[in-house]
Amino acid sequence: MGTPGYRDHPVPEWDPDAAVDWAEAEDFLRQYHAENPGTGAVEPRLAEVRAEIAATGTYEHTGDELTYGAKLAWRNASRCIGRLYWRSMLVLDRRSARTPHEICAELIRHLELAGGTDDRSGSRVGRQGAVRPVISVFAPAKPGEPFARVWNEQLVRYAGHRMPDGSVVGDPAQVDFTAALELLGWKGKGTAFDVLPLMIESPHHGVHMFDLPERAVLEVPLIHPEYGWFAELDLRWYAIPAIANQRLTIGGVNYPLAPFNGWYMGTEIGARNLADKDRYNLLPVMAERLALDTSSEATLWRDRALVELNRAVLHSYARAGVKISDHHTEAARFLEHIRREEKAGREVPADWSWIVPPISGAATPVFHRYYHEADQRPNFYLDEEARQLARTGRPWTSLPL
Ligand code: ARG
Repeated sequence: MGTPGYRDHPVPEWDPDAAVDWAEAEDFLRQYHAENPGTGAVEPRLAEVRAEIAATGTYEHTGDELTYGAKLAWRNASRCIGRLYWRSMLVLDRRSARTPHEICAELIRHLELAGGTDDRSGSRVGRQGAVRPVISVFAPAKPGEPFARVWNEQLVRYAGHRMPDGSVVGDPAQVDFTAALELLGWKGKGTAFDVLPLMIESPHHGVHMFDLPERAVLEVPLIHPEYGWFAELDLRWYAIPAIANQRLTIGGVNYPLAPFNGWYMGTEIGARNLADKDRYNLLPVMAERLALDTSSEATLWRDRALVELNRAVLHSYARAGVKISDHHTEAARFLEHIRREEKAGREVPADWSWIVPPISGAATPVFHRYYHEADQRPNFYLDEEARQLARTGRPWTSLPL
């Protein structure tokens, strides 16, 4: 955080008007067939896809190609430490959803399935809080045609309310987005944890705003295993981190709307969302309650506050029965993932600066090695336009130059 140009390293150019790149299509189809021997010879499918691209500029993935391609995109996500379970992701084929209302209904369903909060009879979902990785893949972009998307950065995020004195109630990362929605008539409760509505845009219906129903947003009130006062801070966080604005690319076909989630690793909340100076900035609050000596950095009061905040997050999720993992466990799993992949004859693309957790880095095994840095496809990319929409809540064209 706070080091522009580092966190947001450049994304390969994407030309929404261009026809599907045949070489990318071929690479993917060959990989899909090679890794799934049951799918038979690739040649007939290659011929079919080549003809389809020649005629229409793009091609349609089969359900199985889509499912495997989405899993490969996760396997190739070099910043993700949680890839051991890449095969287990639930891939929901939502390519036929069109209107913002239809899309919204599927996004709600996504959150319910991911969090096990669905109680419709007959559906096979886990117990509430048993978070499972899910991706919903909506219609691909066709060359030269507009496409549907969600402006929000994640399906669930908390609003940031700018106060007259300049302070922020809520998540400072969402201040501009929140202000834009307020101009459009949205009003939150004004708490530090108001769930933002979804901004869903589709080609023929424009942008629509939807409040998420409570049952779709599983949340955890934060408590500490030892300090009773911690509950008085009235903190909470949500269960399902679901990135909503990254483009999924598979075999040259781009899916601008393909929200996906895993479960949280505690440090994402306790060492970043609640701790970063430009987020909830809770370390000074923790230090005061813990009566730590903040007269000098050398007392390591920040570090001590961080540890207690992170203990609170892990403890609270466990108590609430909501799946979460700690960074030691997740680091060990990642090395297991690397071992398994190497056994299968594959290297694991990884970005050290993202894989190493934000606290106790060298106390986890992922710190002590280098990784294969490669941009492999299928993958997920955050396009500049999508990033701006999530940041400002305003369409690209209305941005001052
Ligand atoms: N770091 C982001 C957040 O704190 C979520 C990124 C995805 N995380 C995950 N565990 N799948 O909201």
